Amino acid sequence: MIPEEKVREVAERLSIVEVVSEYVQLRRSGGNFLGLCPFHGEKTPSFNVNPAREIFHCFGCGAGGNAFSFVMKMEGVSFPEAVKLLARKAGVEIEERQLTQAEKKDQDERQQFQNINELAAGYYRSILKNGQDGAPARQYLLQRTVGDEISEAYRLGFASDRRDGLVRHLANNSVDLDAALKLGIIRKGDSGWYDLFRNRLIFPIRDSKGLVIAFAGRVLDASLPKYINSPESPVYHKSSVLFGLDMALPTIRAKNSIIIVEGYFDHLALFRAGIRNVVATCGTALTATHAGQIKRHAEQVHMLFDSDNAGKKASIRSMELFLEQHMPAYVISLPPGDDPDSFLSKNPVEAFYERQNKARPAFDFFVKSLLAETPPENVDSKVRIIDEIVPRFRKISDPVERDLYEKEICRLLGITTHAFRKRMGGMGLTVKESRADSNKKTERWDNSQETLLALVINYPEAREEALKTGVDILFTGDYLELAILVTDTMAQTDDSQALSHLTDRIENPEQRKILSRIMVSDAFLADIDWRNVFEQCSRSSEKKALGSIKDIAARLAVLDENSEEYSLLLKQADTLRKRKSEL
Ligand code: CTP
Ligand code: MN
Repeated sequence: MIPEEKVREVAERLSIVEVVSEYVQLRRSGGNFLGLCPFHGEKTPSFNVNPAREIFHCFGCGAGGNAFSFVMKMEGVSFPEAVKLLARKAGVEIEERQLTQAEKKDQDERQQFQNINELAAGYYRSILKNGQDGAPARQYLLQRTVGDEISEAYRLGFASDRRDGLVRHLANNSVDLDAALKLGIIRKGDSGWYDLFRNRLIFPIRDSKGLVIAFAGRVLDASLPKYINSPESPVYHKSSVLFGLDMALPTIRAKNSIIIVEGYFDHLALFRAGIRNVVATCGTALTATHAGQIKRHAEQVHMLFDSDNAGKKASIRSMELFLEQHMPAYVISLPPGDDPDSFLSKNPVEAFYERQNKARPAFDFFVKSLLAETPPENVDSKVRIIDEIVPRFRKISDPVERDLYEKEICRLLGITTHAFRKRMGGMGLTVKESRADSNKKTERWDNSQETLLALVINYPEAREEALKTGVDILFTGDYLELAILVTDTMAQTDDSQALSHLTDRIENPEQRKILSRIMVSDAFLADIDWRNVFEQCSRSSEKKALGSIKDIAARLAVLDENSEEYSLLLKQADTLRKRKSEL
């Protein structure tokens, strides 16, 4: 744990311009510095650094934040790591805060788990490399053309058929077997301790720093189950681990793009072919946590799943997660019957790159596969298709993309955009969807709300005025949440960098984007008559809000009267009506 004061001290000693300049060539432009964004490819600079506010924002890709978030994104490191990195640069010494007893225990336990996993990996590895018992596995790898270099890179191993080989190895190294039990790699039965993995090729699963946290074991023949995996443990959560991330990170950074596959052997086949920006899930479908991680490391993602039906389903499910992350996702398709491994063993790597170049945007892939499965031959099938499309279409955030897809879908189905929109509006929404949807209605870039928030940030009088009127009347959606956060923060401190620090704590990427955007571009507000602008903007905001009374009424009509959503909306409608009568 790094104490908060230390974080402040580092922030105070370094200027964001200094930090960013190590990576990006900046030139002065008004109150800001300007350069080519390091997070997406661009030819004309839209990457802004504001030294007064200690904040950066790219108008091209929306990346933004303070010096710490810049380093996190640039180096792919966690917050504490970024602080340490910058502390070294600033000459600030960080002694970490004394751990509490519970934290200390936790840390010791982690250390112990790591030691055990390391011992186990070494044990399996040595059997594969030169153990007598390892011969069948060596034979198997030969047959799958996995050479020594690749075997070493993955630290592949073999668990022999002995009942308690690992148990003994751990015991000989004075490991507390009960701790190893928590990792699930050994078990206790009536007749003593025994190994989880037997007669299996072992893939160690490592975290992003390369530490072994779990194992997967594949049979050498066609018996079932093909794989068994370490169970969930204090150090292994498969819904958040991406297999191969540690090996892939340097290439992911260089290419700013990630390929995601489903199998350990697919990962291996790509790595062997020199394609290295690849990660795999560990025997689960992609989760939102995975998608969030992928987004943190790269700008775009390619999905490369088996060409069968299961692969198609996985692509579509994953597409939804990437849509929610506002992350461009593409589907690389393979010839029928192929998976990445089989494709690369039959074709030169150029053939793979050709397919990658022809990868289709995931949403396009989804619509086309849907139409292939259910040809839009009659009214009935068209309705079914639209019902499949609509909930996913809603998740597309880019207005241009939405527009293009809308046209395309309507053309393919032979319906008018009017009909499509009607369907979009009229579908029975679930509570969760309708809430997400009502948030989205506040448009991602609302000029009057944006200016109002900028005023609140720049003029203490405007802040008071906003609080007097009520932020929940002036703002909606992301802007409302931000306005609450900003006014709270400013009420608590007069630290001029408080808002720059605030960007670290905002989890919602859209809100982070809005805040950094405002903070690099609010210079124009310096010499204005704030009251005048404030009134114009608040009038326009309120008008919009009043317009939404109708929307609210429509939604109330389909909601359960006892639901939380219902009472919330009712209250909102009441406030709005009151305002209206006052105007
Ligand atoms: N998987 C699993 N448990 C199983 C089967 C599969 O956890 N019983 C997971 C593994 O992560 C596996 C992935 O699903 O890597 C894909 O399965 P599959 O394509 O069958 O395995 P591959 O690793 O591609 O192995 P191979 O090429 O040898 O078939
Ligand atoms: Mn496979």
